Amino acid sequence: MNLPNMLDAAKRNKDKVEYIYENRDYNKIYDNKKYFIRTYGCQMNVHDSEEISGILDNLGYIKTDIFAESDLIILNTCAIRENVHDKVFGFLGRCKHLKKKNPDLQIALCGCMAQEEVVVQEIKAKYPYIDLVFGTHNINELPKMLAEYPGHQNINVYSKEGNVIEFDNVYKRDSNVTAWVNIMYGCDKFCTYCIVPYTRGKQRSRKQEDILKEVNDLVKRGYKEITLLGQNVNAYGKDLEEKVGFSSLLEKVSKTGIPRIRFVTSHPWDFTDEMIEVIAKYDNIMPYIHLPVQSGSNKILKLMNRNYSKEDYLILFNKIKNKIKNVSITTDIIVGFPGETEEDFLETLEIAEACKFAGAFTFVFSARSGTPASKMKDETLKSEKDDRLQRLNKVINKYSKESNLEMLGTTQKVLITRISEKDDSKVCGYTENMKLVNLIAPISAIGKIIDVQITGAKSFSLDGEIKKC
Ligand code: 5AD
Ligand code: SF4
Repeated sequence: MNLPNMLDAAKRNKDKVEYIYENRDYNKIYDNKKYFIRTYGCQMNVHDSEEISGILDNLGYIKTDIFAESDLIILNTCAIRENVHDKVFGFLGRCKHLKKKNPDLQIALCGCMAQEEVVVQEIKAKYPYIDLVFGTHNINELPKMLAEYPGHQNINVYSKEGNVIEFDNVYKRDSNVTAWVNIMYGCDKFCTYCIVPYTRGKQRSRKQEDILKEVNDLVKRGYKEITLLGQNVNAYGKDLEEKVGFSSLLEKVSKTGIPRIRFVTSHPWDFTDEMIEVIAKYDNIMPYIHLPVQSGSNKILKLMNRNYSKEDYLILFNKIKNKIKNVSITTDIIVGFPGETEEDFLETLEIAEACKFAGAFTFVFSARSGTPASKMKDETLKSEKDDRLQRLNKVINKYSKESNLEMLGTTQKVLITRISEKDDSKVCGYTENMKLVNLIAPISAIGKIIDVQITGAKSFSLDGEIKKC
């Protein structure tokens, strides 16, 4: 639904809604009402929250970081592992408490958890105080749901994804330096542990012209970096009639002149030589690749339905390292997948040693209802899985620190993005290969790419000084 249609939906509730609609200023139906949004999970969810915030701002809501003063609380949830589920329901306990004090408070739950049938049943049975539930496919229906709120729980989730909807910039972006740009939604890979193909649906790529329009607009508005987003960016275009691949999209995005381009996440299976060439050729495509390996055991990779062997991964890894100057590669690894023996795990440690990743997100396998892996026999004790995770993290942290130490004394181009979270006398930003650097610099440096001398290396960040000419 486009924005005029959203307003039409709001118009239908005339006794509640006063509206003015002039020159695309479809305002301010909920003037001065405050909303609080909490986001769990991946960059996709972070970006979806920017979209939700954009919609609410257009309706006249004001964003607040103070949970207790809000009129509307939105929980944008993630379903990838069980621990997020527990966090969300823990937080909902606090919301319930607040609602007792303020019965007009509206509580909305959306995102991937809302796409899970078991969660919807749980909400119906145990959480009557959640007012609105909407899914990942119908964020655009939020104005309608708010305007037509029936006064009791309203669940509106589609099991089937629709077409890609173009929104005409209703995002309220968190930063005016860096921006997320969706290039596709959903995923067709069906890794056996993963719930994403069920919660986000089949792969739908945005049209190249729409993506380029958005990037050109960001360039005009002075953005310095964009990150192309998708569960599986390098499968971009495979579902489009027009045969366009990710490497040709990257090339076109590069030619828009945006100073920096990043992309997440890449699947090793779809990583082509052409892609490597394009990344190596264009200076504004950053030499940083997040390339999940998941396991070092061929038996486990097969059970995961990853479609590559550890040998394939190593060949690709080395090709990328050899062809892209100063590239850094990070990864995701799952331990304790059903059937993983100590020997399988040792192979994962071996691949971590061989690749010396610049960093990794490591997880213990979490059985997700409805996925094939949740039905596989899993006899490894939780204590054993936790122990594997610790042993893996030791190796990962060693190489992450090592890759930081290698940068000591070098000069790096750093895009300063914000005031440092840990020390507000400093600013921080990222090197081209995605290392976080903290340094003393004037606030006016935010949004600029500056030369920084690396003076210190910690496990997860670097310290630097502005390079004197
Ligand atoms: N259990 C544990 N980790 C998972 N991931 C995805 N699904 C699961 C699961 N069921 C991890 C994968 C993926 C990352 C985003 O989350 O490593 O790459
Ligand atoms: Fe999940 Fe695999 Fe798709 Fe990644 S590629 S989103 S792990 S199914």
